[in-house]
Amino acid sequence: MDALEALMTTRAMRRLSAVPVDADVIDRCLEAAQQAPSGGNVQPQQYVVVRDPEVRRALGDVYRRAYDRYEASLPTPDGLEGDRLASYERTRRASRHLADHVGDAPVLVIFLQPLIPWGGSDDQGPLDIGRLDASVYPAIQNFCIAARTFGLGTTLTTVIRVLHEEALAVIGAPADRFEIAALVPVGYPEGKFGRAVRRPAWRATHHDQWGRKAEPPPAR
Ligand SMILES: Cc1cc2nc3c(=O)[nH]c(=O)nc-3n(C[C@H](O)[C@H](O)[C@H](O)COP(=O)(O)O)c2cc1C
Repeated sequence: MDALEALMTTRAMRRLSAVPVDADVIDRCLEAAQQAPSGGNVQPQQYVVVRDPEVRRALGDVYRRAYDRYEASLPTPDGLEGDRLASYERTRRASRHLADHVGDAPVLVIFLQPLIPWGGSDDQGPLDIGRLDASVYPAIQNFCIAARTFGLGTTLTTVIRVLHEEALAVIGAPADRFEIAALVPVGYPEGKFGRAVRRPAWRATHHDQWGRKAEPPPAR
């Protein structure tokens, strides 16, 4: 599989089988994560790979309770109809399924981000060089794309942050030193990989100046 095919078909795979995943395959995906760019090449992330069924169950319980609160807060989708409503409802059903089964995924990988000062300052004041998480999420996406090449499904999730300290306690990570950037369940998917529906890129593309849009490119 070439790189473009892998990334074009990497999407949220929320229905995972219990088939075990080799440790070596997870290691290869973590190596791909580690190759991601980071500001100043600081490589700030830490990975907690959870296979122990007890720890998975405990994390699954925290995730489900976090998702319950998030789900209850979601507004009713006014104005959606047809394909867009169907897609929204599919995502809601799949997200609920994941929330009820996160702990059953054979592997959970938690990407931790350190609580460290970021950005410098000069004699004119603080220098905004971008946020530290901009140096962590590329690694997470690299991980997911690498997993895709091994036929593994993943979903980048963050909702567990609703119960952040509880989640950190489950994995024994100090809350004064780390935050959770993402929890990624990993497993062989029950569904098929495919290209997800997205708005076309040209609609979000501006040339030379904001607002200067080009014609849509010829269909491929
Ligand atoms: C920053 C971020 C946070 C996300 N958090 C969650 C989450 O907590 N739970 C979940 O089920 N999906 C989560 N997702 C997955 C998105 O819902 C998913 O990427 C989006 O619906 C598109 O899905 P598709 O690629 O299958 O079309 C998250 C994605 C991102 C990028």
